[in-house]
Amino acid sequence: MNEAALRIKKVHHVEFYVGNAKQADFYYRQAFGFSRMAYAGLETGWRDRASYALSQGKATVVLTSPLTPDGEVGEHIRKHGDGVRDIVLEVDDAGAAFEAAVSRGAEPAYPPREIKDGNGTITRSAVKVYGDTIHSFLSLGDYRGPFLPGFERSEAQGRGAGLLSLDHYVANVTLGEMRKWEEWYVRVLGLDRFMTFEDKDISTEFTALNSVVMANGSKSLKFPINEPAPGRRKSQVEEYNDFYRSPGVQHIALLTADIVRTVSQLRANGVEFLKVPDAYYDALPARVGAIDEAIGTLQDLGILVDKDDEGYLLQIFTRPVEDRPTLFFEIIQRKGCQGFGKGNFKALFEAIEREQDRRGNLV
Ligand code: FE2
Repeated sequence: MNEAALRIKKVHHVEFYVGNAKQADFYYRQAFGFSRMAYAGLETGWRDRASYALSQGKATVVLTSPLTPDGEVGEHIRKHGDGVRDIVLEVDDAGAAFEAAVSRGAEPAYPPREIKDGNGTITRSAVKVYGDTIHSFLSLGDYRGPFLPGFERSEAQGRGAGLLSLDHYVANVTLGEMRKWEEWYVRVLGLDRFMTFEDKDISTEFTALNSVVMANGSKSLKFPINEPAPGRRKSQVEEYNDFYRSPGVQHIALLTADIVRTVSQLRANGVEFLKVPDAYYDALPARVGAIDEAIGTLQDLGILVDKDDEGYLLQIFTRPVEDRPTLFFEIIQRKGCQGFGKGNFKALFEAIEREQDRRGNLV
């Protein structure tokens, strides 16, 4: 059994459950540069929720809020705050993908259902993964609408920040559960272990974590999974799990072809990033050698650099985008390097821990 059996084409979109989708739509357009393309809600015949579909390059996100206090959306928000509910996988046949996934031991979230409007019919099904997160399987058939059934065209320009696509989706799970989910992605989705990072790679004076990256053959699907490792103090993964109240998506990485331009724009829009100390940049030339970008520019913007045998990458991490210290975003530019910034882990995690300490959670 392999990935081909499920015929996963790509991540179609990521759906967030949020407390106020109307305001989140504004935030992701004005701060992150997405543009709205479609809307569904009371005006389109939905009675229990409203959703906004936004895109930038090939990256698509859906922001959904409940219109009633009960039901799965409201309960998800009450427990987790704003966060990722669904990483939606586009497949040829959402019925067959569901049957295959369940036969391999996946727990159903909902069985295949046909959803239609005047523009055609799609099929959607879903299986549960870590925490309350799900993977939907979506097959579009010959659907012709602006997004999905129930949505109407609703265009609102964002500021644009040069983001191209979704690069990877990182799970935080609880201590001892990483191997279980690694095995799940192999058995159910047919992915392979692409990289692992042990606690000796990812440790600071106080805390440690383990990480494994699950990917498909072409590396178009990349799902890293983190778990806390024993350390002297509470790790960032435990802080996340405490406030999210379960495992869940810790960060989503957004790909750009010009990180200097993208981060300049995001900073001008008011997006807040983690700060790394100036000493990081003093050590950078010796660590990564010659790169195209001026070190001073990267330092001004707070952009990190890492390299491997095949090239280098540039990356930066936002602060959490909710009051709970849970979901955040990464901006990444790849110049040959398919890694995840291992050489930055120590500086990055020390930066996270400084903020964790300010929140009273590095105990
Ligand atoms: Fe990442």
